[in-house]
Amino acid sequence: MCALQQVDLDPVYLEDDEQSLTQKIAQRRKELGDDLLILGHHYQQEAVFQFADLVGDSLKLARAASQQASRYIVFCGVHFMAETADILTADHQTVILPDLRAGCPMADMAAIDQVEYAWQDFTEAVPGARLIPITYVNSAARIKAFVGRRGGAVCTSSNAERVLTWALDQGDKVIFLPDEHLGRNSAHAMGMSGDDVVLWDRDEVLGGNTPETLARARVILWNGYCTVHMQFTASQVARWREQDPAIRVIVHPECRREVVAAADHYGSTEAIIKTIADSPAGTTWAVGTEINLVNRLAHMFPAKKVHSLSPFQCLCSTMYRIKPGYLLWVLDNLVEGRIVNRITVPPEVAEGARLSLNRMLEI
Ligand code: 13P
Ligand code: SF4
Repeated sequence: MCALQQVDLDPVYLEDDEQSLTQKIAQRRKELGDDLLILGHHYQQEAVFQFADLVGDSLKLARAASQQASRYIVFCGVHFMAETADILTADHQTVILPDLRAGCPMADMAAIDQVEYAWQDFTEAVPGARLIPITYVNSAARIKAFVGRRGGAVCTSSNAERVLTWALDQGDKVIFLPDEHLGRNSAHAMGMSGDDVVLWDRDEVLGGNTPETLARARVILWNGYCTVHMQFTASQVARWREQDPAIRVIVHPECRREVVAAADHYGSTEAIIKTIADSPAGTTWAVGTEINLVNRLAHMFPAKKVHSLSPFQCLCSTMYRIKPGYLLWVLDNLVEGRIVNRITVPPEVAEGARLSLNRMLEI
């Protein structure tokens, strides 16, 4: 969650029509030239996505942020992504989030005091166990710093299995934050099941476990989830298969285990795009991820049929907060020499978070 408050924009930004906003943004980009880099996550709406200099999944954007030299990085994504960019860029670079209300509900499900309490609770119950923390990149900088200082690493949806394998080589057990489903899907892909994997309920003493079950477990899953990917179900997969036995189903690993098990493929947003791009013309797809990406895929590949797995609009409402009017507002301010909506991670937090992010980039 962001401590700063989003200011109300002048109505001119909210009432302007799309064509006029598009022209003004294009003009501002030209004026700012190489000083400006716009990063866009795949879940951004088209009206904003079209302006991104670089697009990608969380891993690709984290890498891009660490390799670019632009003075201003405008991050069209959500808060944890802008924080990650700030941590990985040089001090003279400024990271801006066009709407400060663009958070991630999943990231908010792991608060630092809850995680510190859980760590202490666990170490008292299972003394001597070497517990390695792993956090999905969808987490606050303070969580990344906690993980970094305890020998752990960040992971993304495209490297979770690799990072989990690495962590189990470093210690006896892993606590995986904050996404239960990415953690379970990754552990399952590595052959773990039954007693190997337990759930930690953040509202319960010992996460709702006994010292014995924790002593047996190899992976402890924090009970956070993505409100968007929880909307996909295994019965939607069954319905599509009844309708079209040749359909291919691909889902994001933030979906529940039974949905991933029922699908033909799963992967990060970047992997979903590549799999569909590489499929032969005429293939029909049902895709279990955010609707802006699904609609874009349908448009990008007219020779294939791309549908949303769900009959409902699975929209990430916080990603959707980044609207063209907000993008124009931050660019107008930059042209006039003012920085608005700067995302800064305090140096002591950034130092710890950098440890866990750099460990991931090295694994
Ligand atoms: P990726 O783009 O890394 O697959 O992540 C999806 C997501 O939920 C971003 O918030
Ligand atoms: Fe968070 Fe899910 Fe939205 Fe990604 S899609 S930003 S995980 S709520």
